[in-house]
Amino acid sequence: MHMPTILGIESTCDETGAAVVIDGRDVRSNVVASQVELHAKYRGVVPEIASRAHIENILPVLRESLAVANKTFADIDAIAVAHRPGLIGSLLIGVTAAKTLAWSLNKPLIGVDHVQAHLYSVMLEDAARERPSDEATKGNAAEEAASSPSVASSLRRFVPPPSFPALGAVLSGGHTSLYHVIDWTQITRLGSTIDDAVGEAYDKVAAILGLGYPGGPIIDKLAAEGDPKAIKFPRTMLGRESLDFSFSGLKTAVLYHVRGVPGRDAKGVELNDRTIRDIAAGFQAACVDVIVRKLDRAVRRTRAKSVIIGGGVSANRGLRTALENFAIPVHFPPIQYCTDNAAMSAGLADVLLREGRTAALDLDAITASAIR
Ligand code: KG4
Ligand code: ZN
Repeated sequence: MHMPTILGIESTCDETGAAVVIDGRDVRSNVVASQVELHAKYRGVVPEIASRAHIENILPVLRESLAVANKTFADIDAIAVAHRPGLIGSLLIGVTAAKTLAWSLNKPLIGVDHVQAHLYSVMLEDAARERPSDEATKGNAAEEAASSPSVASSLRRFVPPPSFPALGAVLSGGHTSLYHVIDWTQITRLGSTIDDAVGEAYDKVAAILGLGYPGGPIIDKLAAEGDPKAIKFPRTMLGRESLDFSFSGLKTAVLYHVRGVPGRDAKGVELNDRTIRDIAAGFQAACVDVIVRKLDRAVRRTRAKSVIIGGGVSANRGLRTALENFAIPVHFPPIQYCTDNAAMSAGLADVLLREGRTAALDLDAITASAIR
């Protein structure tokens, strides 16, 4: 098969995305319309607001993804959509758009699992740094070369693929799970959070500290300026064997530290520049510690040859630093593909297309992941 050009669509939660990816790795465009501002005042995603915003955003985002990639519908070989898991009202917008395009353009439709796509995101190449058009704007002679596909592909930054079997981790606002990854389409779940997702804990702690939504990026930044040892927050390991996670106790510990323990005289702490940074650092150290120890445990159990980490929290600098000298290679996505995006779905769809795993036009939006 020639190198397929796939148009991907993302609408599982609160980001509307469309992307054009060639050959499963070469991201030609990755457009994301974030709804963060719409949900910020509620400190979390409001499903009805999300699905309405997807309706408004989907066509402009699709148009822009083609324009940035310098493609028309005629250049597209298949339409991919993340059809599970997610918020049902949000998923339906992307699935309907994808089906409509596949039917009207008479192109194959591919349904992908969003969690599986988060794992695949480590395969995407860092488009921001390698686009020949970026070079073209810096130099003058590069203009003509930029339009030549052979030059474009020679400028692609080679990212070595992970060795299988791998241990996968999806750490985001909606998911915190470990996976045994035999290859990109054979994945089983080893463990999951029994309460909050780690990104959800970041968002709630940010709300407690009055830092706004989403909480991950700002806590990550402030944590680097605080003392991680100033406050020792609990590390919930759930017993010696468990590959599950729990973050609600940690979240409550932060709440009690700040506001005092109910029924006791303790008053909590005054929030100022110093205490906020120390709480952020102590909270992040507890999250990172638990994640690293669980990864270590799971790697021993599965004899994985590499670790693959995706999802919004994989952008975390504290986590990336803590895993720099891990026992086996750890693969992270380029930063722009950590949070929800359509490029990861278009990339994974390339693997599915080559395996002939296209979907019929009755493809459903499903709230649960296919991976068990
Ligand atoms: O993958 P994602 O966009 O959506 C879901 O599928 O859930 O992840 C969003 C989550 C949010 O909870 C956000 O606070 C968190 O990822 N996040 C981070 C960082 N950047 C985003 N958490 C920790 N550190 C970060 N740098
Ligand atoms: Zn996600």
